[in-house]
Amino acid sequence: MVFICIWLFATFFATGMSLDNGLARTPPMGWLTWIRFACNTDCDYDPNFCISEKLIKEMADHMVQDGYKDAGYEYVCIDDCWLAKERDENHRLQPDPKRFPNGIKHLADYVHSKGLKLGIYEDFGTKTCAGYPGSEFYMQLDAQTFAEWGVDLLKFDTCHSDAHDNKEGYPAMSMYLNQTGRPILFSCEWPYGELQQNLSSDYGPVRKYCNVWRNYWDVLDDFQYVKNIVKFYGDNNALFQKYSGPGGFFDPDQVIVGGIGMSHYQQRAQLAMWAMFSAPLMMSNDLRDIQNEARELLLNKYIISVDQDPLGAMATRVWVINGLELWVKPIVPKGSLAIVFFNTKIFGSGTPISTAASDIGMSNPKGYRVTEVFTGKDLGIFKPETNLTARVFTTDAYMIVCHILS
Ligand SMILES: *[C@@H]1O[C@H](CO)[C@@H](O)[C@H](O)[C@H]1NC(C)=O
Ligand SMILES: *[C@@H]1O[C@H](CO)[C@@H](O)[C@H](O)[C@H]1NC(C)=O
Repeated sequence: MVFICIWLFATFFATGMSLDNGLARTPPMGWLTWIRFACNTDCDYDPNFCISEKLIKEMADHMVQDGYKDAGYEYVCIDDCWLAKERDENHRLQPDPKRFPNGIKHLADYVHSKGLKLGIYEDFGTKTCAGYPGSEFYMQLDAQTFAEWGVDLLKFDTCHSDAHDNKEGYPAMSMYLNQTGRPILFSCEWPYGELQQNLSSDYGPVRKYCNVWRNYWDVLDDFQYVKNIVKFYGDNNALFQKYSGPGGFFDPDQVIVGGIGMSHYQQRAQLAMWAMFSAPLMMSNDLRDIQNEARELLLNKYIISVDQDPLGAMATRVWVINGLELWVKPIVPKGSLAIVFFNTKIFGSGTPISTAASDIGMSNPKGYRVTEVFTGKDLGIFKPETNLTARVFTTDAYMIVCHILS
């Protein structure tokens, strides 16, 4: 098969202005409660799994002890269900007093003492998704409160709001965060809210006011959700490529590596694709109880370096043939590539690949040093005419990095 190679030249880098708070120069990495711990608030019945100070501290401890921090994971993030049901008498947000007995400032100090950063959650609407007090009418006060507590990241959800208002509301919150003087990474659900209400999204302003932004349905611990997200990113590939780059990144949602519902192959396929998207790597798993192979995958230095590549590019979906997809991402040094074959098929013994290097993007006559990402195996020097052979199993990915020779 012969493939046309103009796509490599069609790769754009983020043209739009990005949020000027010095953060997210590469995609943020960390951990988030939601998919694994959801809105479990019953600490009497389920003390080790409820959303609480104890849970967050234990995750912070494991991030340091088990090598995640050294690998680049930095933000420990609380999603919905940390709040008390009411604001205090001065209209300030307050955490649930039983589950966060020492308050959020104390928790932020603890997380900072480990060399990590704390993320928190609120909602642009009148209530959070789970029904706790929302920020509508209180955004300035809430931004100040988060800054005073020492919060480093705000995930700002979009439930219980009219998405027509997102284009005013999110920039307003971005401005209030800026006015606190504390750099707070701003994670927006602005375009996702528009999608849910069938409105189109304008990513120029989104990139200008947010560091990362969700624009599709939640991932759940099931490969079908990963496939749907990859398809959405593929179908909108040319548009999204224009807005991904240092300072601002698309957020396809949490990383479920170390979860329960996906096979090891499916987990590595998710992580490979997220790295190709330059996506935030926010794990949602239980770091106290995780399979070794999942931990090794999360710490895989080749995947992390593709995700954290300084260009921050969104990969190109080059083709889709019989359920097999070829994705290529430019990385540094200039001319280098990361390549993923992503197989969405759910039966059969996988798809064998046999292709000239030039047909999958390695067309520079200088040649490339090629490394297999999951095994770390050095495949040697590839010239454009060198043949690559591999097998891509069902619901799996095959990933290589190709560093151009000088
Ligand atoms: C606020 O915005 C200004 C201008 O864009 C920028 O220089 C500054 O670093 C921002 N401050 C914070 C805390 O985000
Ligand atoms: C958006 O479109 C879907 C599918 O056409 C429909 O089911 C849903 O009700 C719509 N939502 C809104 C808020 O209009």
